Amino acid sequence: MQTLRGANIDEPDTAPAEKSYAGKAPGSQQRIERTFTGQPPLIPHSVEGFPAITLERNACLFCHGPQSYKTAKAPKAADSHFKDREGNLLTEVVPARNNCTSCHVPQADATPLVHNTFRGVVEGEKN
Ligand code: HEC
Ligand code: HEC
Repeated sequence: MQTLRGANIDEPDTAPAEKSYAGKAPGSQQRIERTFTGQPPLIPHSVEGFPAITLERNACLFCHGPQSYKTAKAPKAADSHFKDREGNLLTEVVPARNNCTSCHVPQADATPLVHNTFRGVVEGEKN
């Protein structure tokens, strides 16, 4: 069986080279397709150097927020992000969705650490 640490767990593991997301401006690379319904899309651009997200300040909303997305030519945060627990549609992103990077992660051209046979299904598509 192949594990992340290999066969010999007494040997110290060499960490894989760190992936760099730097320098990838919005629109500069192909988006990786979503692989299953409900998957948060990967971030197709660099988020390096962004200030930490707080309730008062969220750099993602400078481009993906309801007031800014048109001028930033960015996709607006999904409609689901404006719904509170009761299902009311609000005009701002709800606090539960404020920490964007807890669900959306930058994409990288990385080989899977272990082989897997997962096949996602996107509704309306034949796999
Ligand atoms: C400077 C403007 C800007 C900022 C800031 C920004 N984005 Fe983006 N983002 C874009 C643009 C423009 C696109 C569409 C172009 C592309 O695909 O690269 C995009 C695409 C995306 C997508 C892909 C959506 C899809 O349907 O595939 C996600 C997810 C995303 N951004 C999340 C984030 C998150 C999370 C942050 C904060 C950490 C963030 N973005 C900050 C401009 C920005
Ligand atoms: C709890 C997880 C979660 C959080 C937090 C979250 N998202 Fe998402 N996001 C998703 C999922 C799941 C989808 C795709 C399904 C959907 O449309 O709801 C999505 C879709 C998107 C899209 C694509 C919209 C489209 O029309 O295809 C953008 C852009 C986006 N999110 C931006 C953001 C930004 C910006 C934040 C922070 C303000 C954020 N998200 C926070 C889970 C999350």
